[in-house]
Amino acid sequence: MGSPIQPQRTALITGAASGVGFAVAKLCRSKDMHLVLLDIDRENLRKAKETLTGMNSCLQTEAFVIDVADAEAWRLTSKQILEIFTEIDLVVLNAGKGYKPREQDVGRANPWLDVAYWRKTLETNVYGPLNGLQYLLPMLLSSRSSKSIASPTPPGGGNPAYNASKAAVKSLTEHLAHDLRSDPKTSHISVHLLIPGWTWTGFMGNGGPVDEGQISKPAGAWYPSQVAAELLNGLENRTFYIICPDGETDLPLDQARMTWGGEDVLENRPALSRWDENWATKAAETIQADAEARRASANRFRALK
Ligand SMILES: NC(=O)c1ccc[n+]([C@@H]2O[C@H](COP(=O)([O-])OP(=O)(O)OC[C@H]3O[C@@H](n4cnc5c(N)ncnc54)[C@H](O)[C@@H]3O)[C@@H](O)[C@H]2O)c1
Repeated sequence: MGSPIQPQRTALITGAASGVGFAVAKLCRSKDMHLVLLDIDRENLRKAKETLTGMNSCLQTEAFVIDVADAEAWRLTSKQILEIFTEIDLVVLNAGKGYKPREQDVGRANPWLDVAYWRKTLETNVYGPLNGLQYLLPMLLSSRSSKSIASPTPPGGGNPAYNASKAAVKSLTEHLAHDLRSDPKTSHISVHLLIPGWTWTGFMGNGGPVDEGQISKPAGAWYPSQVAAELLNGLENRTFYIICPDGETDLPLDQARMTWGGEDVLENRPALSRWDENWATKAAETIQADAEARRASANRFRALK
């Protein structure tokens, strides 16, 4: 099955006015694709549309202000999109936000006493993609040409509602991939999980459709354009888990951390033992040794080729 990244085909991206979403839109535009841009931020969306139209005004660039958590807004927006586009080929359900809980001076219990913070986070990061799927999947079923859906989820972080929301995104994306590929009616739709590393975006105060050439970032963080390039590469190679390294964490280190995390369950360790004061040293040493062994093995494999 060919890639949906083709000239004259259409990409729809949520959270397209900043960071990873804007970088994906730019990359799709450089491949001569039509664009449907969705974002809650009216002013950044206007600027993003202007920049992307400026890259090639012969291609369609439509922008819609929407809160992805609002199912009724999705219903109305998808109707408008259908009036303009007969087909959508690539859907990137990228919009996401890390809300903060209300400060209540109760230490580490703080996030657990603010259910509104959980609800807002889950509504944006989990119901956002689910609302999108409800209204966009019928458009992907309308023809049998190859289509793709991608959604991002990160590793780690210190925000429990955000982490729980991204764990849900991982689980629902895995299930969606399994369901769609197992049915001939839907097997033309590939599903992908994008796992960015540390990326210099609105999450770090670098919001909006910025020109990467004009900003400085810490060496450890990646530019959004690097993540966008990994996404397109993963879509073309039909990779489900598109794991992006960053300037601090290479793939072997990511793999070693994931192995340690998975083994928490098998070894009956405390939850999230890597961050537990009684386990942190052992975890760091084991992960480091595992990462080095993986690097050495990858180097041996490369030398043999
Ligand atoms: N930056 C990182 O290090 C990192 C790492 C892993 C995963 N991610 C994920 O990547 C995705 C993109 O984030 P980013 O880093 O580019 O951040 P960003 O803040 O630069 O971009 C997010 C965009 O989503 C929009 N948005 C937020 N809430 C919305 C809503 N309710 N409805 C519609 N649009 C909304 C924002 O206005 C913004 O334009 C997110 O899902 C985030 O969780 C980011």
